[in-house]
Amino acid sequence: MRLGKRAAAAPSIALPLETPRLLIREFTAGDIEAVHAYSSLPEVTQFLIWGPNSLEQSKQSILAFLDDQKEKQRNNFDLAVVLKQVRKRGEKRRLAGAVGLKLVDWDNRTAEIGYVLHPDYWGAGYAAEAAHAVMAAAFHDLGLQRIVASCDQRNKASARVMEKLGMRREGAFRRSKYIQGAWRDEYLYAILAEEFAL
Ligand SMILES: CC(C)(COP(=O)(O)OP(=O)(O)OC[C@H]1O[C@@H](n2cnc3c(N)ncnc32)[C@H](O)[C@@H]1OP(=O)(O)O)[C@@H](O)C(=O)NCCC(=O)NCCS
Repeated sequence: MRLGKRAAAAPSIALPLETPRLLIREFTAGDIEAVHAYSSLPEVTQFLIWGPNSLEQSKQSILAFLDDQKEKQRNNFDLAVVLKQVRKRGEKRRLAGAVGLKLVDWDNRTAEIGYVLHPDYWGAGYAAEAAHAVMAAAFHDLGLQRIVASCDQRNKASARVMEKLGMRREGAFRRSKYIQGAWRDEYLYAILAEEFAL
């Protein structure tokens, strides 16, 4: 027996999400500068399937996020990761990066998660904190069974984030992606709803 089809009023993630240090919210058109600040950097995108982005490409990605927000049966949740604490008076809340959740296989209640941060914010545990909150909402609000993530085998920080999230390495793929002129080897990680610690 197959799991039921997605209802017309499809479940969605209740936003914004809050963690001790972060606010995870929808992107807005005003985020373009902060998004371009990281998506244009080669050190950020070296292991990704996109980038480094031109300003036009960053604008197009924000427009795609805004379009996704209007979908009734939304499959892509690209969310802004914002630091809650304002360090100086008059300083805006800082947009550090993004977490993306993609419903890759609704019939089998499976989504894929990814994350990217500006290097100014690396090494402080923000990616794990943000991804954990999105995964909790995805399991709870969307009723998912399984969340997967993949990374280039050389991307040690990303693999470590997956491990800190309690994900298990399920596979090591050889030359599975052709990115920026080269074949890449990847790891696949996954976690099930019953394994996820809220
Ligand atoms: C991957 C990324 C989001 C991690 O963000 P972050 O906020 O620094 O991640 P966290 O601080 O939560 O955790 C990083 C972990 O990796 C470890 N790490 C970082 N660089 C490492 C390296 N070169 N070798 C081994 N471990 C490394 C850190 O020590 C930390 O583990 P710890 O908490 O046990 O000490 C960030 O590096 C990034 O934006 N990279 C570019 C985009 C990207 O590659 N995204 C992933 C796509 S699959």
